[in-house]
Amino acid sequence: MRRPIIAGNWKMNTVPSSAAVLAENVKSNLSNCSWADIAVFPPYVGLTTVVAALKGSDIIVGGQNLFWEKEGAFTGAISAGMLAESGCRSVIIGHSERRTYFGETDERVNKKITAALAVGLNPIVCVGETLEQREADIAEEIIRRQVEDGLADHDDLKNITVAYEPVWAIGTGKNASPEQAGEIHFFIRNLVAQRWGKAAANEIRILYGGSVNPGNAAALAKNDDIDGFLIGGASLKADSFHQIALSVK
Ligand code: PGA
Repeated sequence: MRRPIIAGNWKMNTVPSSAAVLAENVKSNLSNCSWADIAVFPPYVGLTTVVAALKGSDIIVGGQNLFWEKEGAFTGAISAGMLAESGCRSVIIGHSERRTYFGETDERVNKKITAALAVGLNPIVCVGETLEQREADIAEEIIRRQVEDGLADHDDLKNITVAYEPVWAIGTGKNASPEQAGEIHFFIRNLVAQRWGKAAANEIRILYGGSVNPGNAAALAKNDDIDGFLIGGASLKADSFHQIALSVK
């Protein structure tokens, strides 16, 4: 049985003080959760206050992105080592907002995964099609490329998680139906089986993300190929994040 992951992507929300309050509330609900790995991804400047607020719990803290170089003249960038030193154990890579607004490519995703793994950060690698691509019936083709190219240099997927996040479902209130999500999760797992082998496919955790809320999480979680959630908006309230975590119990 794969242990579910419930991950909160706070995006560009919270300041360090409010991030600490949110983290404390998450901790009081979900500290040392027995049925799922719980992770939060605050903005960079909130990382140290969140790590401090979560001390004594096993809740994972992660970065929302990184740059693959170790250090140097890369104004505005954050390295994997900096995240690790700040107390991070995970990092989101290839989020669709990074792809849309900041020019993220599969080739860069591949390099970023290498940098993350080198310092012991477990990456959550995001893939997903736009509405145009779904309507043109090329969703699987797009996701195949994102998975194969994004993970190209990686023979061992042990510490890697994939998140299927259809772009049309992110922040729109319009989640993928359990059937739509299940279909793509099944597709990704088969893809992993073909390229990395059956054991890797059985082991890899594939999260769903895109307008997950306490009202739709349980139905999505019923699908055997959905191993938890990457949650944006609903992770900004400790209560709804907790409700979603309960849905995978
Ligand atoms: P959302 O965001 O839950 O607000 O749709 C999900 C994500 O982008 O990770």
